[in-house]
Amino acid sequence: MTAVRVRPAGPLVGTVKVSGATKNSGLKQLAAALLASGVTHVRNLPRVRDLDVMLDVLRAVGATVEWTAEDALILDTSGPLQPEAPYELVRQMRASINVLGPLVARCGEARVALPGGDNIGSRRLDMHFRGLEAMGAELTVEHGFVHARCNALCGARIVLEFPSVGATENLLTAAVLAKGETVIENAAREPEITDLTAFLNRMGAHVLGAGTSTITIEGVDELVAADTEIMGDRIEAGTFLMACGIAGGEVELVGVRLEHLEMVGVKLGDMGMRVSPTPDGIWAQATEPLRAVDIATLPYPGFATDFMPMAVAVLAGSIGTGIVTENVFDNRLAFVEELARMGADIRHEGRHAVVRGRPRLSGAPVRAFDVRAGAALALAGMKADGETIVHDWHHVDRGYPDLVGALSSLGADIERV
Ligand code: EPU
Repeated sequence: MTAVRVRPAGPLVGTVKVSGATKNSGLKQLAAALLASGVTHVRNLPRVRDLDVMLDVLRAVGATVEWTAEDALILDTSGPLQPEAPYELVRQMRASINVLGPLVARCGEARVALPGGDNIGSRRLDMHFRGLEAMGAELTVEHGFVHARCNALCGARIVLEFPSVGATENLLTAAVLAKGETVIENAAREPEITDLTAFLNRMGAHVLGAGTSTITIEGVDELVAADTEIMGDRIEAGTFLMACGIAGGEVELVGVRLEHLEMVGVKLGDMGMRVSPTPDGIWAQATEPLRAVDIATLPYPGFATDFMPMAVAVLAGSIGTGIVTENVFDNRLAFVEELARMGADIRHEGRHAVVRGRPRLSGAPVRAFDVRAGAALALAGMKADGETIVHDWHHVDRGYPDLVGALSSLGADIERV
């Protein structure tokens, strides 16, 4: 059992280096490395809990891993692969499903346990499956596993019902070895897709249009192992900006691009913060209590769902009323009940919440439901009288290498207990 204690402190001041985006970008590139036989050096990959799970999945299919620094490793995929991802690993982390596309493309077969839903929603995989079938894979779902087989994948035109990040990644990493051209329409445009595509193209893939809604992939016969350096974590950066909004202060973030979280900058600006790009990151300042705004989450470049829990925490301590609409996941607002335990005035139903700001919250023991909800509760604790204990902090450790250390380096009163 892990928990974190937060007490209110003064404004946040200082500079912090944003971590590599291990969870939302690094894991996908590790899965993609299975497409080629050889050695991949991965840099800027700080250790988070989900990385340990992905490395176990990769070992289970036959890769070897060697750490070369705190945040760098070598993945060797030269040995024979057994294309099966077991349930004990997949159930711990949904991103394990990202090995499906690369394994079926390289081995002609893959058996991956079904991850199931989680605390933020039902999280179906129908678009992943339909896209692979369009490329000629035969899929059966039995006994809790998806089994995909094909003689050779063939290029296809795939229209996604929703710009799913995971489906775009899985289909992209299958299509790079398919015969002929694949076009993914209504593709996700998240910067992590662009980061993955740059890696695939360095491996010899022919992918055009990443970062737009139409991605075109000309399949090649073979890829070669290449090295990669993972992009800065825009979600961690947004967490620091919102922490500054809650506690006040002036922070500088290094190693991230404001354009990757532009809508967060716009909303925090509307609330009264100053946020601007610097040559190597973002500068932000909050000198007065923030004013409430409405927020609706959307796929990139809209306001990302991963920022929503933190935004609710900011609104809970702002002046006025904000309406929050969660358009991406069907159950991501349940955590507001924990914020209500801290005295936040929030009415929530389904995908909507009405947040009436209060000048102070009240510290309380609360529970992290998922990685971002846990971070949001810690942020709220920075504006809550007394002591807030966030239990189940292991959820936060899934995605942040050291949120506690980074926030305390900026002056927050936060520690693991
Ligand atoms: N969906 C379907 N069918 C599918 C695929 C998705 O209905 O076949 C639905 C999902 O149920 C969900 C929506 O589409 O309602 C969006 O899901 P998406 O596939 O885009 O999400 P994901 O790939 O499973 C990644 C991130 C999430 C982030 C979302 C949206 C990783 C490891 N996870 O999940 O990150 O919220 O994209 O941007 O990259 C987080 O970091 O806290 C987090 C949850």
